Amino acid sequence: MQIIDLFSAPIASVYHPDHSKIKKPLIQHCINLKSTTPSGGSNWISKSLYNTFNIYDILKDNAFEDLNNWVYDQATDFKNKLGQDKKLIPSRGWFNIYTKKDSQEFHNHNFDYISAIYYLKSKPSDARTYFKSHLPDNPNNPSFKADNKYTWVNYFSRPEEGKLILFRSSMEHCVETHTADDLRITVAYNYGI
Ligand SMILES: [Fe+2]
Repeated sequence: MQIIDLFSAPIASVYHPDHSKIKKPLIQHCINLKSTTPSGGSNWISKSLYNTFNIYDILKDNAFEDLNNWVYDQATDFKNKLGQDKKLIPSRGWFNIYTKKDSQEFHNHNFDYISAIYYLKSKPSDARTYFKSHLPDNPNNPSFKADNKYTWVNYFSRPEEGKLILFRSSMEHCVETHTADDLRITVAYNYGI
C-alpha cells in the first residue's frame, strides 16, 4: 500500500545557539519599548496583550539585527525545504509581551508566506502555541496516537526559550491563557516571496 501525504502542514523548530547571550539585553529592550510605544493589534480580540504589530517594526531596529538575521537564515532554510525557489522578503516583525491572563485568539498570517515565532522569554510550562488542523472537524476522527501523524488534529508548541518555530503563514494558531506571574515574551516574523 502506498500512502500520499496530501497537503502537508509542516512546522519546523530550531534553537538559537547563543540564546543565553542575546536574551538579557533584548528582553530589557522590549520592556523599555513597552513603556514608550503604544500597543498594536487594534483589531485583535485579545485587547490586553501588549504587542507592537504594525506599530513598531523590529526589522528596522539595530538592537534586533543579529536575531533578525539568524531568523531570516532559518526561514530561508525552511522555505528551501518546502520547495520554494524564490527569495524570502522580510515583511514585518514585532514582539508580544504576555502578562498574567493574556492569551491570543485563533488567527493566521495569511498576508505573507512564512511566519516565525521566537520564544525570547518563557518557561516550557507557560502558555503554549496551539495549531489546529486545516481539515474540518470530524466526530469520527480516530483517537489521538502520538506516534501516528494521521491521528493529529492539533499541535501544541511548548514555549522553550531560544526555540524558533517556522510555519506557513496560512496555519491557524492561537496562544493559551498565560497563567504565570512572569512575563512571556515572543518575537514574531513574517516573510513574503
Ligand atoms: Fe500569530
